[in-house]
Amino acid sequence: MVDLVLTNIKGLVQVRPASIKKVAGSAMANLPVLSNSYLAITKGVITSFGSMETFPSDLQAEQQVECAGRFVFPSFVDSHTHLVFAASREEEFVMKIKGATYQEIAAAGGGILNSARKLQALSEEELFERSVVRAWEIIRMGTGAVEIKSGYGLTVKDELKMLRVAKRIASETPLTVKTTFLGAHAVPADTTKEKYIQLILHEMIPAVADERLADYIDVFCEQGFFTTAETEQIVEAGKKVGMRPRLHANQLYNSGGVQVGVKTKALSVDHLENMGEEEIDLLKNSDVMPTALPGAAFFLNLPFPPARKMLEAGLPLAIASDYNPGSAPSGNMSQMLSLACVRMKLTPEEAINAATLNTAYALELSETHGSIAVGKVANVFITKPMPSYAFLPYSFGSQQVEKVILRGKVQ
Ligand code: NIG
Ligand code: FE
Repeated sequence: MVDLVLTNIKGLVQVRPASIKKVAGSAMANLPVLSNSYLAITKGVITSFGSMETFPSDLQAEQQVECAGRFVFPSFVDSHTHLVFAASREEEFVMKIKGATYQEIAAAGGGILNSARKLQALSEEELFERSVVRAWEIIRMGTGAVEIKSGYGLTVKDELKMLRVAKRIASETPLTVKTTFLGAHAVPADTTKEKYIQLILHEMIPAVADERLADYIDVFCEQGFFTTAETEQIVEAGKKVGMRPRLHANQLYNSGGVQVGVKTKALSVDHLENMGEEEIDLLKNSDVMPTALPGAAFFLNLPFPPARKMLEAGLPLAIASDYNPGSAPSGNMSQMLSLACVRMKLTPEEAINAATLNTAYALELSETHGSIAVGKVANVFITKPMPSYAFLPYSFGSQQVEKVILRGKVQ
């Protein structure tokens, strides 16, 4: 007797041997799909799947979900978000429409510092209540695992507050959560960069490590924020206490983030709107997962990462949402697929691989997430009836996720 069985699935998407941890280059064009299939789940884990033609006649299930006409996908893995934040920033959206740049808004005390002021004014409880709403919002849109960064606290107390809220989201929702310490997101207005870096190195990192609040460390390596040398210094301090790096790199300028990421053996370098041949070459000789954040490139009207060139060079590519109040106010991963297809010329197969298997790799979740395989966590979503899986990125802006199953439970 199994707990749950999905039957008559039109297409079971991303069925792979568990040994395949990521796909790169031309292999990204291949998306294995099992048509007319079933999927069985017990104790929160995928226990079997196959063609309906071989459906075991003795298979009995506690619960059955009929999936005729529908596709079943492994849940999205969103490997880059800032979904713990206090409030939206649509006033800056209007400023941008009227011509202000991201850098001008930041220099005028807006941007990250605006979010920090708002977050510092909230209690941990209030911040949790606002943030958990966003966690449930992305669950309904098909995300099953997510990375959440700090970086809107910018004081010891408020960075810890953010990370505790992220941990509470992990324990009070069915999401799988990885947390990242991003104290080096911006320099607070009331201090100098030198002093703030000392605070990060000598107070924030030890306090975060003491409470075991972060899996990873991140730095906004960018002109006007943190230099490559500062990034390296901060990342090395994090590594000493067990936080592996993942970096904000090459978003506004070609500012050397890719080089530091490769040098410090980062798990991923994210954004990559501004990169050239040299950066592509460097990534080729590394295990770093290049990650595009198409929502941020779209929302800030930046050039998109040169995804086709990267795949032609044989690189893997991941896609995440960057869900945050300033540059990407959406955690809708289906929408990220659409943007990746339209603006980076990825095929639906490449985009889906990038948002499931490759993001799972970037979050060190390959053993349990990112594809349909026996033994993996039963995190899947069922679509509305649709003609083909390409309909998901094609039907941009419309919600095609009908039912969500996380850890084997229908949500
Ligand atoms: O990933 N680039 C830096 N951090 C965020 C945006 C932060 C903000 O504007 O609040 C990003 O785009
Ligand atoms: Fe970000």
